[in-house]
Amino acid sequence: MKKRVVAYKKLPPALLARLTERFEVSAFDGVNDANRAAFAEAVASAHGLIGASVRMDAALLDPARELEIISTISVGYDTFDVDYLTRRGILLAHTPDVLTETTADTVFALILATARRVVELAELVKAGHWQRSIGPAHFGVDVHHKTLGLIGLGRIGQAVARRANLGFGMNVVYYSRHAVPEAEAAYGARRVELDELYASADFVCVVLPLTAETEQLIDADAFARMRPETIFINGSRGRIVDEAALIQALKSGAIHGAGLDVFEREPLPADSPLLQLPNVVALPHIGSATHETRFAMAEMAVDNLIAGLNGQRPRAVVNPPSRPFAIEGEVR
Ligand code: DGY
Repeated sequence: MKKRVVAYKKLPPALLARLTERFEVSAFDGVNDANRAAFAEAVASAHGLIGASVRMDAALLDPARELEIISTISVGYDTFDVDYLTRRGILLAHTPDVLTETTADTVFALILATARRVVELAELVKAGHWQRSIGPAHFGVDVHHKTLGLIGLGRIGQAVARRANLGFGMNVVYYSRHAVPEAEAAYGARRVELDELYASADFVCVVLPLTAETEQLIDADAFARMRPETIFINGSRGRIVDEAALIQALKSGAIHGAGLDVFEREPLPADSPLLQLPNVVALPHIGSATHETRFAMAEMAVDNLIAGLNGQRPRAVVNPPSRPFAIEGEVR
């Protein structure tokens, strides 16, 4: 009997075909109010799940007694209760590495767009309001040779640091639980405490995963320690920031601007005060959203799922396996 798989995000046809060759697949193009009941029913009898951006709680997963693996098409796994999955013996696989450079590009796009007011000024031109040469009221601020403060220096943080230092001559400071000697040697990055980072960085950039420890890490107190020149960048997860405090800091001039790819609630509600602020560049969570990278992520997730359902070690597992993997090449 073929194992049952639920794909809860649309997969490229060639990748879906790799699954349908091996498994009985129920495919969903996202989960919404219209298909939620059918999705829950399919999950209840599945051996494997693959997809992204759907919160998976115990109410959904408790009935899925045969579930062996969830393969998320994302590097972030904050939509899962990892301890719960581990207790249940369910593997969680994810897609690090393949999106690192693309996500770092997005972060850098936010840095440049916010500092140089790219979106605002492009809109001015499109609206036909460019009638004389631009004066100080529309000037931006420099990026090159400024100080970038990275909160977190994992894979994506290091890729941002490389762009900043080698490409833009920026001075890089970072806050991290662990020193990253490679980044210190390669990009002159200097490890500092948060207070020093807030006081010295022209750009404060969050590149951390969302966990119980990082939730609301950037609060009113943090914004109060930044400088009026600071541009705040978030390309990781919205809930790391107290969004009300960010809005207050932007409105009061405690900071200069913000470039945001992620928000407390996504999609960002149309009535969010952030959308009224001229000093905010807001993107629709596009960190990894290029054709090439989204394909690579889906491909890696499919590989992970096939490996997991064959009793082999997926390329990237979040939780420690509760059962031994088969030897490479052996199919169980
Ligand atoms: C990730 O892979 O975690 C991206 O943020 C997409 O959700």
